Amino acid sequence: MRKISTIGILTSGGDAPGMNAAIRAVTRAGIANGFRIMAVYRGYEGLINDEIKEFTTEDVSNIIQRGGTILKTARSREFETQEGRQKAYENMQKRGIDALVVIGGNGSLTGARIFAQEFDVPCIGLPGTIDNDLNGTDSTIGYDTTLNTIMECVDKIRDTATSHERIFFVEVMGRDAGFLAQNSAIAAGAEAAIIPEDNTGADQLEHFIGRGIRKSKSSSIVLVSESPKCGAMYYAERVRKEYPEYDVRVSILGHLQRGGSPSAGDRILASRLGCGAIQAFLEGQRNIMIGIKNDEVVYVPFTNAIKSDKSVKKELIDNLAVLSI
Ligand code: F6P
Repeated sequence: MRKISTIGILTSGGDAPGMNAAIRAVTRAGIANGFRIMAVYRGYEGLINDEIKEFTTEDVSNIIQRGGTILKTARSREFETQEGRQKAYENMQKRGIDALVVIGGNGSLTGARIFAQEFDVPCIGLPGTIDNDLNGTDSTIGYDTTLNTIMECVDKIRDTATSHERIFFVEVMGRDAGFLAQNSAIAAGAEAAIIPEDNTGADQLEHFIGRGIRKSKSSSIVLVSESPKCGAMYYAERVRKEYPEYDVRVSILGHLQRGGSPSAGDRILASRLGCGAIQAFLEGQRNIMIGIKNDEVVYVPFTNAIKSDKSVKKELIDNLAVLSI
């Protein structure tokens, strides 16, 4: 196996709070262990277009507290093509980059897996997504901060919900996963969460109304996972038609959920994962995602990490139902 002396680092896909803490950790742990660190801008796009610069420890000063990513990010269509990946590989060779750290979500780590296989490039992934939908890690970088942001927003919405005695449907991100909706509902003391993982076949709106919540409470908040067809607007419309006695409003939180200074939890997670990535290279590991399970750093093969079967625990669904009576 070729000796690794220079490591490229990039962020890809949706930005997530804590990505900067991860960039800092990889850079500093890498330099401390004798590696050169090459920063790649705009995700895989930057690898294809040769937007690459060597990082010193100073380049990552004063960024641990900042949201977003100083490396910029993108969802690269070109990297999905063999020609695009070929260009990326040629730039890596030109720059003397032997290995890659990719910080991103499902799509980004899928790209890393294909690239690693195709060109025999050692790649290590760090789970960076607010969605928390990667397997093999208890949490992903950005998830905790986003949960806190949603909770703060719902706390504010509750003032209006209570004062006007309304039902609020609050739509949150998560792509195809309900972790954000389910756990922010618990954290904010909401009445219900409508999530894609609920596969009981029951109509989730009828279930919520049928629980008789409006008998004991004059206002309710329902967290709804984003969905092209049945997001918060869909449920609000249905209530207007099917239960016209209720006063309904919708709040779609959108991208404000992804911004802001990372929580302590995300900064620590990102720092541990970043140091873990360098340690993994030192151990000769490749083509894995670094995760944290039960407070231990773990190495998760890409194929396992990107499997789309991480599910919201039934216990959490049951807890919310009990806590919202
Ligand atoms: O994957 C992160 C995420 O924020 C999802 O929750 C959401 O569906 C998507 O990205 C939004 O992407 P964009 O910022 O491209 O609109």
